[in-house]
Amino acid sequence: MTRKITANLYMTLDGRGEFPKYPGSDVTSDEADEFFRAFWTSRYKDVTTVVMGRRSFLGHRDTHSERARKPNDPKFMFEYSRFLDRVDKVCLSRRLKDTGWENSRIMKGDLSAIVRKLLREKGGNIIIEGGPRLIQEVLRRDLADDYWFVLMPVVYGRGPRYWGTLKEQRTLKLLSASSLEWGEVLLHYASRGRASGSS
Ligand SMILES: NC(=O)c1ccc[n+]([C@@H]2O[C@H](COP(=O)([O-])OP(=O)(O)OC[C@H]3O[C@@H](n4cnc5c(N)ncnc54)[C@H](OP(=O)(O)O)[C@@H]3O)[C@@H](O)[C@H]2O)c1
Repeated sequence: MTRKITANLYMTLDGRGEFPKYPGSDVTSDEADEFFRAFWTSRYKDVTTVVMGRRSFLGHRDTHSERARKPNDPKFMFEYSRFLDRVDKVCLSRRLKDTGWENSRIMKGDLSAIVRKLLREKGGNIIIEGGPRLIQEVLRRDLADDYWFVLMPVVYGRGPRYWGTLKEQRTLKLLSASSLEWGEVLLHYASRGRASGSS
């Protein structure tokens, strides 16, 4: 079975990869909302590999592993942590020697070659979870089958940018769009065909 690759993007209106505060951003409940279900909860069964750049990997390890959870965190976040702990995690890094997180490995080199290697391995679907620089390369090389965006209602003005210069435009196919309670927009796009990854 072909492994599907999905990229997750958390973006401000000005294309920054940040998690700003805005009315509603602090509201927590024990139940995952539509955004979190789309990005994570509904995919625990079919996703077996999560790929992250070094910074995102270390950030997730230190915030979202089960041992990093705080007792009052929402229940669905504990479920998320257990999923992240057990899933095969790929940390992209040239300098990291040890991941310090169970079920994880370090890979380095050409991203298209890494993706081809992962596709040859046995397993379920794959999530590419950022950060922004990695996602930019994924889009530039057209390596994902689909892209989930959560667009937050903030022009942030600083922080890592998702988009830099591309030699060629990328055109995606909209699969769904919905607005969420606190003004975020959830967008699901398909690639118009996974390319050779050589650009
Ligand atoms: N989903 C998310 O995780 C997410 C979403 C939104 C915003 N953010 C924020 O964005 C920041 C990080 O963003 P970022 O884009 O700067 O970092 P990133 O993509 O998480 O990590 C970048 C690092 O990944 C490694 N890397 C990437 N491609 C590689 C390859 N092909 N081979 C080997 N190593 C590779 C390099 O590490 P080495 O230097 O070790 O080689 C590079 O410095 C975080 O502070 C986070 O808060 C994260």
